[in-house]
Amino acid sequence: MAVENLASNSMANISWLHGLLWWRNWGKRDWAISAIGFAVFVFALGFVSYSWNSDPDSNLSSSFHRITATDLVDLTLLHNATRRGAVCLDGSLPGYHFQKGFGSGANSWVLYIEGGGWCNTIESCFWRREIHLGSSKHMGHRVHFTGILSPHQAQNPEFFNWNRVKVQYCDGASLAGHPDNELRNGTRLFFRGQLIWEALMDKFFSLGLSKAKQALLAGCSAGGLAALIHCDEFRGLLPKNVTVKCLADAGKMLSKIPP
Ligand SMILES: *[C@@H]1O[C@H](CO)[C@@H](O)[C@H](O)[C@H]1NC(C)=O
Ligand SMILES: *[C@@H]1O[C@H](CO)[C@@H](O)[C@H](O)[C@H]1NC(C)=O
Ligand SMILES: *[C@@H]1O[C@H](CO)[C@@H](O)[C@H](O)[C@H]1NC(C)=O
Repeated sequence: MAVENLASNSMANISWLHGLLWWRNWGKRDWAISAIGFAVFVFALGFVSYSWNSDPDSNLSSSFHRITATDLVDLTLLHNATRRGAVCLDGSLPGYHFQKGFGSGANSWVLYIEGGGWCNTIESCFWRREIHLGSSKHMGHRVHFTGILSPHQAQNPEFFNWNRVKVQYCDGASLAGHPDNELRNGTRLFFRGQLIWEALMDKFFSLGLSKAKQALLAGCSAGGLAALIHCDEFRGLLPKNVTVKCLADAGKMLSKIPP
């Protein structure tokens, strides 16, 4: 054991010595190449630290900006919803996240419906009651408003100052479920998407949607399908002189809807 250690120590000493000799043998050309390499390295290091330290509102860094308090938006539960039977799959209250518009966006609205597929069997709907897609008991209390919901002009130039809403999707069927389709054998699964949609619209009207000059109903995946399903209804709710558009992002499902 001791002999082995001694041997490896002396091996290390030899290679260190070899490195030193090799270093001393460097010619002018080697020195020049390594000097250029070192200069490039220092420059790159300086550039990286400049990017990290620069003003968070500058265009360069804001597309990668740090999460600030204004990006995190609290969940609001629709407390009046139970009275009208508008509940998530498990019977809990539906919810949404809202950030008020300001400046030139004060009377413009963007409503974004979260995706998450459908539940298409009794089992998958039961399973959903245990996650945020079927119960507000499992929804995050705060969400990060990014993309079309971001409050930063550099990241979201068109909509940053609009009234921005994220609808939490919890009925398992693109906000289209109806109590007529519920099981009547004691199974506690609520298919109330249409009622949730109506309760949400009443709420947003009371929050200022009634005074909108323009409104965009958007969503992704099952939320995109919800935007498609409710687009005409949404158009009909607002006066004719209000500009209304709908955006169904990846909302057309050609085959069996994934669980
Ligand atoms: C919700 O219910 C409360 C108390 O019953 C009532 O004051 C309030 O106006 C209702 N809100 C909506 C949006 O219906
Ligand atoms: C209720 O009906 C559904 C669909 O037919 C079935 O899957 C479920 O097991 C039934 N539940 C009870 C408690 O009978
Ligand atoms: C739409 O028309 C109504 C009634 O004339 C008016 O009060 C409202 O300001 C108009 N809204 C827009 C967005 O032009």
